[in-house]
Parts: sequence; structure tokens; C-alpha cells
Amino acid sequence: MIEVRRSGPNDLDGIFDVFRSVYNDRHPYSVRTEIEKDLANPVIFSYTALMDGKIAGYGQLRQPEYPFLSFERQALEISRLGVRSELQGKGVGKALMAKLEEAIDGEDPLIVCACMQTADERSQHLLAPLGLFPVALFQGLAPDFFDDGQASSVLMGMCCRRVPVYPATLYLTPRLERLAQFVVAGIGLHREFLNFAEPPENSEGFLKQLALHRETFESHIRSGGFHFGFVTVDLSSPEAPAFYAMAHEAGFTVEGLVPMVPHANGSRSDHLVMRLVPPGIDDTRIRLVIPGATELKEILDTVG
Ligand SMILES: CC(C)(COP(=O)(O)OP(=O)(O)OC[C@H]1O[C@@H](n2cnc3c(N)ncnc32)[C@H](O)[C@@H]1OP(=O)(O)O)[C@@H](O)C(=O)NCCC(=O)NCCS
Repeated sequence: MIEVRRSGPNDLDGIFDVFRSVYNDRHPYSVRTEIEKDLANPVIFSYTALMDGKIAGYGQLRQPEYPFLSFERQALEISRLGVRSELQGKGVGKALMAKLEEAIDGEDPLIVCACMQTADERSQHLLAPLGLFPVALFQGLAPDFFDDGQASSVLMGMCCRRVPVYPATLYLTPRLERLAQFVVAGIGLHREFLNFAEPPENSEGFLKQLALHRETFESHIRSGGFHFGFVTVDLSSPEAPAFYAMAHEAGFTVEGLVPMVPHANGSRSDHLVMRLVPPGIDDTRIRLVIPGATELKEILDTVG
């Protein structure tokens, strides 16, 4: 019998065991105090799944951890979803999702997001009913699933619950640069990109940001750690083409697009997400399975 309930402090050992069975030492939940902190955090909704009375899985709703979505106070991320390895495929994940969806309905956020392993079809299957559309593909960003030297990728999906999204802005990125051109063409910036010649006048801040990302990234690589190294480009800004070109020059590639980023004056715009690509990532391991996303297939066919 499967039961899902709000987590309590006594679930700590059981949740720890779940994550030890699924991830290696690099996952945040391989550290007990991280789980403890989340369980005590009143703004994180934590759920424990029990199978025949034994802790079998865990999932939570929280403010998005991704830097380019953390701006959005009305966004929730489904996170730390895991089911004990020997109990997977028996409906525990589905039962957890049902509770998480109930909690989402109660909170009624503007945006919901979640990550899926590209190497794990089940994780994509499980999240499909939410109607997430892919906004970014982070290559090699799931080192916690594999041993040293290997990498999986994370596909980030997002849905907007109360605002229609302009479909031409949705895409994912198997051939990152070509797709970037496609997106740019789709939103009418293409000519400007091609004509880009001079750096924009107020580029100093942006260049500083790039330099900082590079520096932090390199120091993490040296220490054997991992770093995201994202920069975002506001596509509604007249300087977007120039910023894109500078980031590209500095070794950043397009990873995704976050639609509807809010501005202080209440307007919203689309942001291109670019990331410094770690060396040695083997992207032949990346498989993409996007259930029900026919429009995305069309986009991919268009970019060849
Ligand atoms: C992803 C995960 C949480 C799913 O939990 P689970 O208990 O194994 O999932 P369920 O048994 O409830 O199955 C979920 C769906 O996947 C389908 N499924 C089951 N086995 C499958 C398989 N081998 N391949 C593809 N789909 C499968 C189920 O039929 C179900 O779909 P349905 O609703 O259409 O019937 C679990 O597998 C896990 O912990 N994976 C590792 C961590 C992870 O990837 N987390 C996700 C985000 S990073």
C-alpha cells in the first residue's frame, strides 16, 4: 500500500536512505544536514511516500533554485524527487506527484518548473501530465547520477499556469548554436545579430559578469567541484545582439530560454540563457524524450 503525507523530522533517516540509493556523493542530499535543513524550512513543502509503512520516496515544492528563475516569486519548483531504487516502477513516484500537484493547486503559482533526467525516461513520463514545456537543456549537469568522468544532462521544463506563452519562444537545444539562430530569427532579431559590429555602450557590467562567471567556474573545476556559470540576455533589449555576441565570444553557448521574466515596471520579456560549457562533456550520451511536444519536434526538424 502506498501512502503520501507531509514529511516530519522523524523521516530524516528514511529520506537519507532513499537518496543514498539513487544518487552518488555529489547530490545535495548525500549530506544529512541538507535534508534536515529543508525539513525544518517552513516555506518548503516536503512530502514523504511510504510503501507498506516503510519510507520509499520523497519530493518537495520550493522556490526555484535556478538563478534565472529565482527572480520569480510566483514560481514553484518540484525538486528532490526520488524513489528508493528497489521500489521504483511501482507507482510511488506517481503517488508523490499527485500530492505535489494538489499542493501546487493550493498555492496557484504563475510558473511551475521541474527538472528531468535526459537519461531517465521514467522521470520525463512522470512529469508529463503537468504540461511542462522544455526551456533549457543543461548538458552534463547531473554528475550526481554517475561516476567520475561521466555526465548526464538535465532538461528543465516549465509551465505557466495563468499566462499564455508565445509558442515561438519555446525551444530546446540539441544543436545549441544553430537553434540559437533559429530562436533569434523567430523573434525578429536575426538581422541585428548578423549586423553586430561594435560593443554596446553600457557593456561594462555585462563583461564583468562574464569574467566573474569564468573565474568562478575555473576555480570550481580546479577544486573538483561543479559550477553552473550562467549568464542571461534580455531579448527585448536593443543591446541583446551585442550581449549575445560578447557572451558567445567568451565561450558561452545557448542552453535555453526563459519566457516572461518580469521587470520592475510590471512588463515581461524573454531571456536567453547562456552557459559556459565545461570541457570534456560527452554530449553523445544525451537522449531527449519529450512526450507530447509535437511543436518541439517541428522546431528541431526546422533547424536540421
Ligand atoms: C523518477 C522517479 C522519481 C519515478 O518514481 P517511480 O516510483 O519509479 O515512478 P512510477 O512507478 O510512479 O512511474 C512513473 C511513470 O513512469 C512509467 N514507467 C515506469 N517504469 C518505466 C520505465 N522503465 N521506462 C519508462 N517509463 C516507466 C510508469 O508507467 C508511470 O507512468 P504512467 O503514469 O503513464 O503509468 C524514480 O524513478 C527516481 O527516483 N529516479 C531517479 C531520480 C530522478 O530521476 N528524479 C527526477 C528528477 S531529477
